[in-house]
Amino acid sequence: VPSIHQQFSVPYDFPVVFTRDLFNPANPLLADTLDRRHERRRHRLLAFVDGGVLDHHPRLLDDLAAYARRYADRMEWVLPPRRVIGGESIKNDYRLTMELVDTILECGLCRHSGVVAIGGGAVLDAVGFAASIVHRGLRLVRVPTTVLSQNDSGVGVKTGMNLHGGKNTIGTFAPPFAVLNDLDFLRTLPDREWRAGVAEAFKVAMIKDAGFFETLIGSAPALAARDEAAMERLVVRCATLHLEHIRTSGDPFEQGTARPLDFGHWAAHKLEALSGYRIGHGDAVATGIAIDSRYACRSGWLRAEEVDALVRGLQQCGFPLWHPELARRAADGQPEILNGLRDFQEHLGGELTLTFPGPLGCRREVHEVDTTLLADLIAAWPRPIAPVVPS
Ligand SMILES: NC(=O)c1ccc[n+]([C@@H]2O[C@H](COP(=O)([O-])OP(=O)(O)OC[C@H]3O[C@@H](n4cnc5c(N)ncnc54)[C@H](O)[C@@H]3O)[C@@H](O)[C@H]2O)c1
Ligand SMILES: [Zn+2]
Repeated sequence: VPSIHQQFSVPYDFPVVFTRDLFNPANPLLADTLDRRHERRRHRLLAFVDGGVLDHHPRLLDDLAAYARRYADRMEWVLPPRRVIGGESIKNDYRLTMELVDTILECGLCRHSGVVAIGGGAVLDAVGFAASIVHRGLRLVRVPTTVLSQNDSGVGVKTGMNLHGGKNTIGTFAPPFAVLNDLDFLRTLPDREWRAGVAEAFKVAMIKDAGFFETLIGSAPALAARDEAAMERLVVRCATLHLEHIRTSGDPFEQGTARPLDFGHWAAHKLEALSGYRIGHGDAVATGIAIDSRYACRSGWLRAEEVDALVRGLQQCGFPLWHPELARRAADGQPEILNGLRDFQEHLGGELTLTFPGPLGCRREVHEVDTTLLADLIAAWPRPIAPVVPS
């Protein structure tokens, strides 16, 4: 019986461009991007816009219409841009995803047509998922509107939604056609969303770039004061590191068990879940990386001054690092958050693989953790002296 070993590789490429005033007809970026393969045709497009973005940018739908009129030779909206519910709600209800699928199919988009997703990471995940399954994948142009989506989730290759009570239980690996980051959108973010992406920047700096870590520490007061220039530098550097990781890690579609960019996330995901999602992802990640950095310090991988600088920097940025959920105990008396280790391993499959920082700016993969040490760390986790910043 013959046995044939099939093998091929498919190159992916997509631009990630930083801009301002993306939908001003004077800005040709979107029209140019649509035509980046020089097809010289009128691109058929459908846009889905995050309702939370529209609430703060009420003229956006008119701007989108005006933009298509200006570039009518290169693009058309096959339907007026659609408002979709923003935040995690859109990922929590598969009927909403199916509505996206229905809308895309009803207007007859083909695999050469495009979907433009404008919004936070949740909307990008849900719309991206729908676009990736219709006809096995349409072109997706992402326009991320939060710090986290501009510097982390929106520049990656994944889509997802929540089913069976779990986060991202279904989804696809589907690189976008392009990512256009309009920094002006960040101005209208609530404080919690503004700082959420800052936690991811600290995360990536700790494991990949000690110089960036120093910059973040230095700019913490400016970030807390919502300094746009400081945020722009953060978003660009963090997105660059993220892209570099996906490009060079050798595992863009996460076939292995290691997920370096999930440093601090086993605890973060569990904290979010234990709080019934009262604690935001960014606040949970800040706490998660602080816990894992203390663990790294106790293991001799980081210096105590570095962890102290991290904790101070995070606090200066407005992150509450204490949450009552840290004090919850499971039936066996252990901190309940430790169950996050098992959940994390289940989601990834295979052997437990956690990423820790150490030395600063580098990472190490660990397959076994000293749960007694972790439990001690969490039990001794400092309660706030000042009132907890509401999350
Ligand atoms: N696909 C991936 O690789 C990946 C990676 C990390 C995170 N994620 C996902 O990203 C999601 C979180 O994304 P997020 O942090 O961007 O938050 P989000 O999408 O939940 O948005 C938060 C809130 O901000 C609003 N909003 C968005 N842009 C705004 C703006 N410019 N002004 C005012 N309000 C605005 C939204 O309507 C929403 O209410 C999670 O679902 C997470 O699972 C995905
Ligand atoms: Zn994260």
